[in-house]
Amino acid sequence: MRKRLIAGNWKLNGDWSLCQQFIAAFAAEKPAKQQADVDVIVCPPAVYLARFAELIQSESSLLQLGAQDVSTEKQGAYTGEIAATMLSELAVGYGIAGHSERRHRFAETDQQVVNKMLNLFAANVTPIVCVGEPIEQREAGKAEDFIESQLIPVATALAEQGLNGRPMAIAYEPIWAVGTGKSATPEQAQSMHAYIRSVIARFIDTDELRVIYGGSVTPDNATALMAMPDIDGALIGGASLDPKQFVALANV
Ligand code: 13P
Repeated sequence: MRKRLIAGNWKLNGDWSLCQQFIAAFAAEKPAKQQADVDVIVCPPAVYLARFAELIQSESSLLQLGAQDVSTEKQGAYTGEIAATMLSELAVGYGIAGHSERRHRFAETDQQVVNKMLNLFAANVTPIVCVGEPIEQREAGKAEDFIESQLIPVATALAEQGLNGRPMAIAYEPIWAVGTGKSATPEQAQSMHAYIRSVIARFIDTDELRVIYGGSVTPDNATALMAMPDIDGALIGGASLDPKQFVALANV
Protein backbone atom coordinates (compact mmCIF):
# COMPACT_ATOMS: atom_id res chain seq x y z
CA MET A 1 0.00 0.00 0.00
CA ARG A 2 1.60 3.26 -1.11
CA LYS A 3 1.27 6.25 1.20
CA ARG A 4 -0.62 9.11 -0.42
CA LEU A 5 1.33 12.22 -1.41
CA ILE A 6 -0.46 15.58 -1.63
CA ALA A 7 1.85 18.35 -2.80
CA GLY A 8 1.05 22.01 -3.37
CA ASN A 9 3.17 23.92 -5.86
CA TRP A 10 2.74 27.64 -5.29
CA LYS A 11 4.82 28.55 -8.35
CA LEU A 12 5.58 32.32 -8.38
CA ASN A 13 2.79 33.10 -5.90
CA GLY A 14 2.32 33.64 -2.19
CA ASP A 15 4.12 35.66 0.42
CA TRP A 16 5.19 35.27 4.03
CA SER A 17 1.65 35.98 5.19
CA LEU A 18 0.35 33.01 3.16
CA CYS A 19 2.97 30.75 4.76
CA GLN A 20 1.64 31.77 8.18
CA GLN A 21 -1.96 31.29 7.05
CA PHE A 22 -1.13 27.72 6.05
CA ILE A 23 0.31 26.89 9.44
CA ALA A 24 -2.75 28.46 11.10
CA ALA A 25 -5.20 26.61 8.83
CA PHE A 26 -3.63 23.22 9.49
CA ALA A 27 -3.57 23.94 13.24
CA ALA A 28 -7.19 25.11 13.30
CA GLU A 29 -8.78 22.55 10.98
CA LYS A 30 -7.01 19.60 12.60
CA PRO A 31 -6.97 17.42 9.47
CA ALA A 32 -8.53 14.03 10.05
CA LYS A 33 -5.66 12.49 8.14
CA GLN A 34 -2.36 12.20 9.93
CA GLN A 35 1.22 11.80 8.85
CA ALA A 36 0.79 8.03 8.91
CA ASP A 37 -1.87 8.32 6.19
CA VAL A 38 -0.56 11.03 3.91
CA ASP A 39 2.48 13.15 3.16
CA VAL A 40 1.31 16.76 2.81
CA ILE A 41 3.89 18.92 1.12
CA VAL A 42 3.95 22.66 0.42
CA CYS A 43 6.38 24.00 -2.17
CA PRO A 44 6.57 27.77 -1.69
CA PRO A 45 9.04 30.00 -3.50
CA ALA A 46 12.54 29.11 -2.25
CA VAL A 47 13.09 32.34 -0.32
CA TYR A 48 10.41 31.29 2.19
CA LEU A 49 11.72 27.80 2.86
CA ALA A 50 13.98 28.60 5.81
CA ARG A 51 11.43 30.58 7.84
CA PHE A 52 8.64 28.21 6.87
CA ALA A 53 10.72 25.26 8.09
CA GLU A 54 11.21 26.90 11.49
CA LEU A 55 7.50 27.59 11.82
CA ILE A 56 6.54 24.04 10.84
CA GLN A 57 8.90 22.67 13.45
CA SER A 58 7.81 24.98 16.24
CA GLU A 59 4.10 24.34 15.55
CA SER A 60 4.53 20.57 14.96
CA SER A 61 2.50 21.02 11.79
CA LEU A 62 1.44 18.14 9.55
CA LEU A 63 2.97 20.09 6.69
CA GLN A 64 6.28 19.16 5.13
CA LEU A 65 8.31 21.29 2.78
CA GLY A 66 9.28 20.85 -0.83
CA ALA A 67 11.29 22.94 -3.27
CA GLN A 68 9.92 23.88 -6.69
CA ASP A 69 13.24 23.41 -8.42
CA VAL A 70 16.89 22.65 -7.78
CA SER A 71 20.16 23.24 -9.60
CA THR A 72 21.63 20.79 -12.09
CA GLU A 73 24.95 21.64 -10.46
CA LYS A 74 26.35 20.73 -7.05
CA GLN A 75 28.24 23.95 -6.29
CA GLY A 76 30.36 26.59 -7.94
CA ALA A 77 30.01 29.67 -10.12
CA TYR A 78 26.31 29.35 -10.97
CA THR A 79 24.72 32.66 -10.00
CA GLY A 80 21.19 32.39 -8.70
CA GLU A 81 21.13 28.60 -8.38
CA ILE A 82 20.20 26.58 -5.30
CA ALA A 83 21.93 23.25 -4.64
CA ALA A 84 20.14 20.13 -3.40
CA THR A 85 22.46 19.97 -0.38
CA MET A 86 21.32 23.48 0.61
CA LEU A 87 17.72 22.29 0.55
CA SER A 88 18.43 19.30 2.75
CA GLU A 89 20.14 21.58 5.27
CA LEU A 90 16.80 23.38 5.66
CA ALA A 91 14.91 20.14 6.29
CA VAL A 92 13.30 20.33 2.86
CA GLY A 93 12.16 16.78 2.25
CA TYR A 94 11.02 16.95 -1.38
CA GLY A 95 12.12 18.64 -4.58
CA ILE A 96 10.30 19.01 -7.89
CA ALA A 97 12.32 18.37 -11.05
CA GLY A 98 11.17 18.86 -14.62
CA HIS A 99 7.93 20.76 -14.14
CA SER A 100 6.43 21.50 -17.57
CA GLU A 101 6.78 25.23 -16.93
CA ARG A 102 10.52 24.76 -16.47
CA ARG A 103 10.81 22.43 -19.44
CA HIS A 104 8.99 24.87 -21.72
CA ARG A 105 9.55 28.38 -20.44
CA PHE A 106 13.16 27.72 -19.43
CA ALA A 107 13.97 25.11 -22.10
CA GLU A 108 15.02 22.47 -19.60
CA THR A 109 16.18 19.27 -21.26
CA ASP A 110 15.61 15.65 -20.24
CA GLN A 111 19.29 15.44 -19.26
CA GLN A 112 18.98 18.46 -16.99
CA VAL A 113 15.91 16.93 -15.36
CA VAL A 114 17.90 13.74 -14.73
CA ASN A 115 20.80 15.72 -13.24
CA LYS A 116 18.42 17.55 -10.92
CA MET A 117 16.87 14.26 -9.83
CA LEU A 118 20.27 12.71 -9.13
CA ASN A 119 21.38 15.75 -7.12
CA LEU A 120 18.22 15.49 -5.04
CA PHE A 121 18.81 11.78 -4.39
CA ALA A 122 22.43 12.47 -3.42
CA ALA A 123 21.25 15.03 -0.87
CA ASN A 124 18.53 12.71 0.50
CA VAL A 125 15.76 14.95 -0.81
CA THR A 126 12.89 12.94 -2.34
CA PRO A 127 12.49 13.86 -6.01
CA ILE A 128 9.11 14.51 -7.62
CA VAL A 129 9.86 14.19 -11.34
CA CYS A 130 7.21 15.68 -13.64
CA VAL A 131 6.17 14.43 -17.05
CA GLY A 132 3.29 15.53 -19.25
CA GLU A 133 2.25 15.72 -22.87
CA PRO A 134 1.08 18.78 -24.85
CA ILE A 135 -2.44 18.78 -26.27
CA GLU A 136 -1.16 18.15 -29.82
CA GLN A 137 0.37 14.83 -28.77
CA ARG A 138 -2.79 13.73 -27.02
CA GLU A 139 -5.00 14.66 -29.96
CA ALA A 140 -2.67 12.81 -32.31
CA GLY A 141 -2.96 9.67 -30.14
CA LYS A 142 0.72 9.94 -29.22
CA ALA A 143 0.45 10.81 -25.53
CA GLU A 144 1.96 7.51 -24.34
CA ASP A 145 4.88 7.75 -26.78
CA PHE A 146 5.61 11.26 -25.58
CA ILE A 147 5.48 10.30 -21.91
CA GLU A 148 7.65 7.26 -22.54
CA SER A 149 10.27 9.48 -24.20
CA GLN A 150 10.36 11.63 -21.05
CA LEU A 151 10.49 8.60 -18.74
CA ILE A 152 13.24 6.58 -20.41
CA PRO A 153 16.12 8.93 -19.47
CA VAL A 154 14.81 9.08 -15.90
CA ALA A 155 14.34 5.32 -15.56
CA THR A 156 17.69 4.59 -17.20
CA ALA A 157 19.45 6.82 -14.66
CA LEU A 158 17.56 5.18 -11.78
CA ALA A 159 18.74 1.74 -12.89
CA GLU A 160 22.30 2.78 -13.75
CA GLN A 161 22.81 4.63 -10.48
CA GLY A 162 21.45 1.79 -8.35
CA LEU A 163 18.52 3.81 -7.05
CA ASN A 164 16.06 0.93 -7.02
CA GLY A 165 13.79 1.24 -3.99
CA ARG A 166 14.74 4.80 -3.07
CA PRO A 167 11.67 6.94 -2.31
CA MET A 168 10.56 9.15 -5.19
CA ALA A 169 7.45 10.18 -7.07
CA ILE A 170 6.54 10.74 -10.69
CA ALA A 171 3.99 13.48 -11.27
CA TYR A 172 1.88 13.07 -14.40
CA GLU A 173 0.84 16.57 -15.37
CA PRO A 174 -0.72 16.72 -18.85
CA ILE A 175 0.12 20.21 -20.06
CA TRP A 176 -3.40 20.77 -21.38
CA ALA A 177 -4.75 20.28 -17.86
CA VAL A 178 -2.31 22.56 -16.02
CA GLY A 179 -3.94 25.83 -14.99
CA THR A 180 -6.80 25.38 -17.47
CA GLY A 181 -9.59 24.22 -15.17
CA LYS A 182 -9.87 21.17 -17.44
CA SER A 183 -8.61 18.20 -15.44
CA ALA A 184 -7.94 14.84 -17.03
CA THR A 185 -10.77 12.45 -16.25
CA PRO A 186 -10.03 9.83 -13.60
CA GLU A 187 -10.02 7.22 -16.38
CA GLN A 188 -7.56 9.17 -18.56
CA ALA A 189 -5.26 9.73 -15.60
CA GLN A 190 -5.52 6.12 -14.37
CA SER A 191 -4.69 4.79 -17.81
CA MET A 192 -1.58 6.98 -18.11
CA HIS A 193 -0.48 6.27 -14.53
CA ALA A 194 -0.64 2.53 -15.15
CA TYR A 195 1.36 3.07 -18.33
CA ILE A 196 3.97 5.15 -16.46
CA ARG A 197 4.35 2.39 -13.88
CA SER A 198 4.74 -0.22 -16.62
CA VAL A 199 7.47 1.78 -18.40
CA ILE A 200 9.48 2.33 -15.22
CA ALA A 201 8.97 -1.30 -14.20
CA ARG A 202 11.16 -2.30 -17.14
CA PHE A 203 14.06 -0.70 -15.22
CA ILE A 204 13.38 -0.84 -11.47
CA ASP A 205 10.82 -2.14 -8.97
CA THR A 206 7.76 0.07 -8.90
CA ASP A 207 5.74 -1.34 -5.99
CA GLU A 208 6.67 1.65 -3.83
CA LEU A 209 6.84 4.23 -6.62
CA ARG A 210 4.23 6.92 -6.11
CA VAL A 211 2.67 8.24 -9.32
CA ILE A 212 0.73 11.40 -8.59
CA TYR A 213 -1.55 13.44 -10.85
CA GLY A 214 -1.43 17.18 -11.49
CA GLY A 215 -3.61 19.44 -13.60
CA SER A 216 -6.59 21.44 -12.29
CA VAL A 217 -7.04 19.29 -9.19
CA THR A 218 -9.58 20.73 -6.72
CA PRO A 219 -11.38 19.36 -3.66
CA ASP A 220 -14.32 18.68 -6.04
CA ASN A 221 -12.54 16.34 -8.43
CA ALA A 222 -9.85 14.93 -6.12
CA THR A 223 -11.93 12.14 -4.57
CA ALA A 224 -12.73 10.51 -7.91
CA LEU A 225 -9.12 10.86 -9.10
CA MET A 226 -7.71 9.48 -5.87
CA ALA A 227 -10.05 6.47 -6.00
CA MET A 228 -8.11 5.13 -8.99
CA PRO A 229 -5.69 2.30 -8.14
CA ASP A 230 -2.62 3.88 -9.75
CA ILE A 231 -3.21 7.48 -8.61
CA ASP A 232 -1.17 7.85 -5.44
CA GLY A 233 -1.74 11.51 -4.79
CA ALA A 234 -1.76 14.91 -6.43
CA LEU A 235 0.47 17.84 -7.37
CA ILE A 236 -1.69 20.91 -7.08
CA GLY A 237 -1.14 24.44 -8.36
CA GLY A 238 -4.03 26.92 -8.14
CA ALA A 239 -6.02 25.18 -5.40
CA SER A 240 -2.89 24.89 -3.25
CA LEU A 241 -2.87 28.66 -2.76
CA ASP A 242 -6.04 28.54 -0.67
CA PRO A 243 -5.34 27.17 2.82
CA LYS A 244 -8.90 25.86 3.26
CA GLN A 245 -8.92 24.08 -0.09
CA PHE A 246 -5.51 22.60 0.60
CA VAL A 247 -6.61 21.28 3.99
CA ALA A 248 -9.61 19.74 2.20
CA LEU A 249 -7.29 18.14 -0.36
CA ALA A 250 -5.09 16.71 2.41
CA ASN A 251 -8.22 15.15 3.89
CA VAL A 252 -9.57 13.52 0.71
P1 13P B 1 -3.00 23.63 -11.47
O1 13P B 1 -3.45 22.79 -10.31
O2 13P B 1 -3.14 25.11 -11.25
O3 13P B 1 -3.59 23.15 -12.77
O4 13P B 1 -1.40 23.40 -11.60
C1 13P B 1 -0.90 22.12 -11.64
C2 13P B 1 0.58 22.19 -11.53
O5 13P B 1 1.25 22.63 -12.43
C3 13P B 1 1.18 21.75 -10.27
O6 13P B 1 2.56 21.63 -10.39
